[in-house]
Amino acid sequence: MARKTTISIIKADVGSLAGHHTVHEDCLNTASKAMEKAKNDELIVDYYVTHCGDDLELIMGHTKGENSSEIHELAWNTFKEATEVSRNLKLYAAGQDMLKDTFSGNVKGLGPGVAEMEFEERISEPIVAFLADKTAPGAFNLPIFRIFADPFCTAGLVIDPAMHGGFRFEIMDVKENKVITLKTPDEIYDLLALIGTTGRYIIKNVYRASDNLLAAAVSTTRLSLIAGKYVGKDDPVALVRGQHGLPAIGEILEPFAFPHLVAGWMRGSHYGPLMPVGLKNAKCTRFDGPPRIVALGFQVRDAQLVGPADLFDDPAFDRARSTANEIADYMKRHGPFEPGRLGMEEVEYTGIQKTLQDLKPKFRPAS
Ligand code: F6R
Ligand code: MG
Ligand code: MG
Repeated sequence: MARKTTISIIKADVGSLAGHHTVHEDCLNTASKAMEKAKNDELIVDYYVTHCGDDLELIMGHTKGENSSEIHELAWNTFKEATEVSRNLKLYAAGQDMLKDTFSGNVKGLGPGVAEMEFEERISEPIVAFLADKTAPGAFNLPIFRIFADPFCTAGLVIDPAMHGGFRFEIMDVKENKVITLKTPDEIYDLLALIGTTGRYIIKNVYRASDNLLAAAVSTTRLSLIAGKYVGKDDPVALVRGQHGLPAIGEILEPFAFPHLVAGWMRGSHYGPLMPVGLKNAKCTRFDGPPRIVALGFQVRDAQLVGPADLFDDPAFDRARSTANEIADYMKRHGPFEPGRLGMEEVEYTGIQKTLQDLKPKFRPAS
């Protein structure tokens, strides 16, 4: 049997330059050195280190499979080293996502976010790594749905017989920690009944129905639920395989031409448009946003990452960015009012709950 390849994105916010807006170069360099060493030690085959906003992103090609304790420990130790650099520079919120002191076999539940896929490489294996900041995993529900189930986005669902059988979506209920699998197009309404609730039901994996080929993986960690209190939105990542019986790269990118509203932005407590940007603009400035997303295209060759192509660094997405700016103006003008601000149960600064609590005894019966 052919050797299987695994692509892992493991990411964490270990501290940021000038507030929560970008990763310091020294942290990126420290992470690159740790990755280079792991490559020389043949623990990983290849890597790409980058950031989206204040999140340090490790994209790794290897053969250790999903949930490998060796790979997760490598990522954890790399984040620990970068945290040290962050602390020395007194960067802001150094070690923000390092919620536990010790590694225990898997980074899930410790703070960092993970999207991983193990697969047998096809003759040619194009893949897109999506990296988002100032939002939560549910931000991927709408675009992933459209990529794999909406023929008005993905022409291949109609035109390419290889996709005609549809896709199976694995959905996670992040509150109950349970999963359900639903198939499109047959169960499209059931699927939408769940994934429209983006704070709770998150698309985790997508498989091609005809042969169960793994087509997409999204990080589903919810930091707020892990830590029991607000420690920052979990800024999701995702991997999507493309072409030859899967959605084409252009179909995978198309949903992002609509900068849909996502939960996050300032203080993880507002709805803002998800703005598709090239790496050079992957920093969150205005009102700590607007929420950003980067798309990096790779060709995977024997677990090597050939690339990346910076896919949103393209005038074809200028209008989406300009629309996102207009939406940002509009949403921002709501100030502390819903629906500019998230509903109270989603506002992730716990301090506000105390204010509400303190006001309780001051209420008197309405006459
Ligand atoms: C959102 C985020 C930022 C911070 C904001 C306040 O995910 O990271 O918007 O919430 O900059 O940060 P603190 O409370 O650290 O001053
Ligand atoms: Mg931060
Ligand atoms: Mg972040």
